[in-house]
Amino acid sequence: MQTADRLTKIPPYLFMELRKKINQAKADGVDVISLAIGDPVEPTPAPIIAELCRRAQDPENHRYPTDEEKGMLAFRREVARWYETRYGVDLKPETEILGLIGSKEGCHHFVLARINPGDVVLMTDPGYPAYRASILMGGGEPYNVPILRENGYLPVFADIPADIAKRATAMFLNYPNNPTGACATKPFLNDLVAFARQFDIAVCYDNPYSEILFGGQERISFLMAAGAKDVGIELNSLSKPFNMCGWRIGMAAGNPDLIAAISKVKENTDSGIFNPIQYAAIHALANNAPAVEDMLAVYARRRERVLAALARIGIAFDPPKGTFYLWVPVPKGMTSLEFTNRLFDKTAVVVASGTAYGQYGEGFVRISLTVPDDRLTEAMRRIEQEFA
Ligand SMILES: Cc1ncc(COP(=O)(O)O)c(C=O)c1O
Repeated sequence: MQTADRLTKIPPYLFMELRKKINQAKADGVDVISLAIGDPVEPTPAPIIAELCRRAQDPENHRYPTDEEKGMLAFRREVARWYETRYGVDLKPETEILGLIGSKEGCHHFVLARINPGDVVLMTDPGYPAYRASILMGGGEPYNVPILRENGYLPVFADIPADIAKRATAMFLNYPNNPTGACATKPFLNDLVAFARQFDIAVCYDNPYSEILFGGQERISFLMAAGAKDVGIELNSLSKPFNMCGWRIGMAAGNPDLIAAISKVKENTDSGIFNPIQYAAIHALANNAPAVEDMLAVYARRRERVLAALARIGIAFDPPKGTFYLWVPVPKGMTSLEFTNRLFDKTAVVVASGTAYGQYGEGFVRISLTVPDDRLTEAMRRIEQEFA
């Protein structure tokens, strides 16, 4: 069967390829440890699950979701409270917030809501691969903006060619950043707003790791910057802070025109989020902030363990303080892929090659801390043995 041409432009999704490789090795009896995927293994906190179960008993909730594409007003109000208490950001639940089936859904529907065929859409290199796929599926032209270690992995707006900036109608950004772990600063966000305003670029600030911070790093939302709501939206998600990746719930917040446009796309695409999941999410946001702190302590412990093991084999670096990933420089004389392949072939430990996130990912691999402690310890033991 012939399928749509637009799909041929999209590179294979990194984790699908990795999964195939891992599954094959496991089928061959190899004890594979994957540090490649950012999907927490700990369960969703029990009270959130209990709320889902309770609400699922009510037949009213088996119907199409309330307020369909926008999300329940009660959910949007709770998101507004969360943004107020966590970031000091004021949002109108009726017009400035939208429920999402995860922030990944928001990325895709943002593109459909904003860009016209042939528009340039800026994204970072390295960057989260789903942006490119969304841009291409929406008929846009992705333009890679390098983010380099010497600039704190933040884009330098002055280096973006003026003709590209003029043609661009949207930009994806993501801090705390996957894959580098870098965090934004408030001055950077002010520059971002000014750049977006100058070139009429709609910002899609993807912030699902906003809570995953270490070492006293400040919690930052794009919407804290003056004028942010004039130029863009922020996407966020319950996936990472509450171990709810599989539940598929997130939110978009910010510019009311963009929120209305994404609602329109959703109205014609999906019918929103299962009500019991929205109730459970309300419960999470309202009552479960302490569970986030507990998870951060777990990740902080694992992070130290990995850094110490890497230091012992001569890979010492000062990592940025966000996300549950470590963006690790590979040993001198090796490419990212050579290092990744050697790890897999010799130790059955899987890490993500930096080049999977763009050409500027060369020289790095990404290690995820979302594996049980004992497996992480075993993985690091094997790596140390191989590179000792
Ligand atoms: C930068 C980034 N954005 C979005 C997502 C997807 O998040 P969600 O589960 O909310 O769709 C991920 C998941 O890994 C991510 O790394």
